[in-house]
Parts: sequence; C-alpha cells; structure tokens
Amino acid sequence: MSASIFTVKKDVVEMCRRIYNHGYVAANDGNVSARVDDGHIIMTPTGVSKGFLKTQDLVVVDIDGNKVAGTTRPSSESKMHLAIYKAREDVNAVVHAHPATATGFAVAGIPLTQCVLPEVIIAIGSIPIAEYATPGTQDLADVVVRYLNQYDAILMENHGAITVGSDVTSALFKMETMEHFAKIMLVAHQLGNIHGLPPRDVETLLDLRKKFGIRSTAPACTIEGTCEAPPPKEKPEPSSPVQSNLIEEVTRQVMEKLKG
Ligand code: 13P
Repeated sequence: MSASIFTVKKDVVEMCRRIYNHGYVAANDGNVSARVDDGHIIMTPTGVSKGFLKTQDLVVVDIDGNKVAGTTRPSSESKMHLAIYKAREDVNAVVHAHPATATGFAVAGIPLTQCVLPEVIIAIGSIPIAEYATPGTQDLADVVVRYLNQYDAILMENHGAITVGSDVTSALFKMETMEHFAKIMLVAHQLGNIHGLPPRDVETLLDLRKKFGIRSTAPACTIEGTCEAPPPKEKPEPSSPVQSNLIEEVTRQVMEKLKG
C-alpha cells in the first residue's frame, strides 16, 4: 500500500457511486471501508446514500473503532469491517452490498459454489452462505469472519453479500463477478440444466490461480461435474373416473337437499 489517504478516500467514493449506480444497494444500504498505510480505516458514514457520497462525508477510525477524523458517524456495520481487518492482514478493502440476484440466492439458501465459470473459479473460487445474524451486531461480525478467513466473497443469509480485496477496486470487482455469476446461474437454472466443468478442467484453473498468486487458502468450488437443475414439482394426479363419479354423486345429493 502506498496511496495517499486522499487518493484512497476518492477511490472509496467512486466505488460507492458505482455500487449505487449498478443497483447493488437501495436507498442508504451498504457500506464500504478501506485500510490506509498508518493502519487507520476509512469508513462510509451510517445512513447515507452511497450514490451521493463526498470525500468529506467519510469517517476515519482506528482498528478498535475509535474515531480519528470526520464529522459523521461511522457505519453501523463497523464491527464487521474491523473484525475482517483484524483477521486478514492481506485485506485492505471491504464492500458490503445487497445485489439483487446474489442476495436472491442468499434468501433461497442456495450457495454459489459450483464450478461452472473459469473467471469465477480463478477470481473468487467459491461463494458460500454465512448464517444469519442481526445486522450491526458482534454476532454478525463473528459469523462473517469465520467465513472470510477462508473466502474472499460470501453471501449473507437473508441479508446480502460481502467481498474483500487488496484495494477498493479489487473488492468491488469481486462483488461485480459475484452478481454476474448469480445472474448466469439463475438463467441456466431457468433453462433447465447447470453443466459443471469436469474436475480435470477445474484442476487446471486452480493451478492458474496459484500461478497468478491468488490466495491459495480460499477453497475451490465444489468439484461435482454435471449438476442437473432440480426436477419440476410433481403435478397432482388427475382424479380417477371412480373419484369423478363419486364427486358428481355427492354434488347431486347436496343440490337435491338444497332444493328441498
Ligand atoms: P449503514 O448505513 O449503517 O452503513 O448500514 C447500511 C446497511 O446496509 C446495514 O447492513
């Protein structure tokens, strides 16, 4: 890291604007942070739209959350951001957003862990779902860190998504890759088949990850070959002639009784 604090603040504001313009957040949702050279963290303020943020709106806190600079209050998810920086020395930026398709998978309880797209396998590896905990709590921070110790991108059950990176651009790009992947998986599912890459091809991609120096502790996607979409729900059996006759007879008797 060697960028000045002002450059990093400008990057945070630019990435927030992109998150908002992509539709990854609504209203005041989402939060972004970045660690700078002196170890301090630049944090988005709480309750402010990410689409209209200015550098002077950002807050600077130390690793324990004490305010160092700024006039606004830091994000209500500061505990989660700070816990991630404490756990991962290689991480200098955290993006939390609610991209609609990826969050749909988090709500449906379907993780994005299948080996189907080379770019996703290389850039991210796999995207599990972290269990639900109330936003803004230490519980949520603890759950999220448990996953981010191993992964760079996770879904948050019934909530949204988080990505981390060596800088704000890299964290945002992982969020973009995740949402794009979710859209493609949804289309493939609608078309009726999700064809997984064969394990041999996945191994080659994982070797490329190593070659590119991408964090090797991030687990690979689920190597499982072809994965069929779940079969459509069974339609109720049409009623048999005996059943139909019985229904007709009962209806006739009820009508007779009503007529008097
Ligand atoms: P903040 O405005 O406090 O950052 O909270 C937004 C959010 O998305 C909480 O999960």
